[in-house]
Amino acid sequence: MMVVEDETIRRILRNLDRPLVMVGLMGSGKTRVGRMLADRLGLRFVDSDEEIEKAAGMTVSEIFEKFGESYFRDGERRVMQRLLGGGVRVIATGGGAVMTPETAGMIWNGSVSIWLRADVSLLAERTSRNNARPLLAGGNQEEILTDLAQQRHPVYEKADITVDSHRGPVEAIANVAIERLDSFLRGRENTRA
Ligand code: S3P
Repeated sequence: MMVVEDETIRRILRNLDRPLVMVGLMGSGKTRVGRMLADRLGLRFVDSDEEIEKAAGMTVSEIFEKFGESYFRDGERRVMQRLLGGGVRVIATGGGAVMTPETAGMIWNGSVSIWLRADVSLLAERTSRNNARPLLAGGNQEEILTDLAQQRHPVYEKADITVDSHRGPVEAIANVAIERLDSFLRGRENTRA
């Protein structure tokens, strides 16, 4: 596995002036990799779905069931606005956040965004482990994820950084994210100078 130098971490922390936001489909590892990234960088981690649940006093599934998806998207937009205003940290989004144009605008303009790209077969395998995702409930997960990948990949592609999420250890995925983040921030530093 690639070794990340301490100097790389220090340089990232010097150059990073906004939150890091993890985007990607359900099961791509936004929470797992985001947590690891926060840990490695010594930053706080926050998960937007969890924050929505806390604010609503209900699970995401319950919100979808009782009030529908557009109500959820509205709460998601408000929670993202608050989280993005909270300074440098790692934020995991729900997979659909960037499909709401206003939420997407805030993410693209107010963070360094990282797309965790993964094969549908891997996403289906990971998401089959629990039933907390209303968009996958009662359907063929692989079919639904294939449709969502088609709709959403062109949007996720706008992220500042793309990292492949695979079956290997989360540490390895986080290491690649750290190296890409460093290159991205160094590129920005050069264009500013
Ligand atoms: C959704 C993804 C979920 C959650 C909600 C809708 C989506 O988050 O926000 O069920 O539209 O892709 P995860 O991507 O963390 O599963």
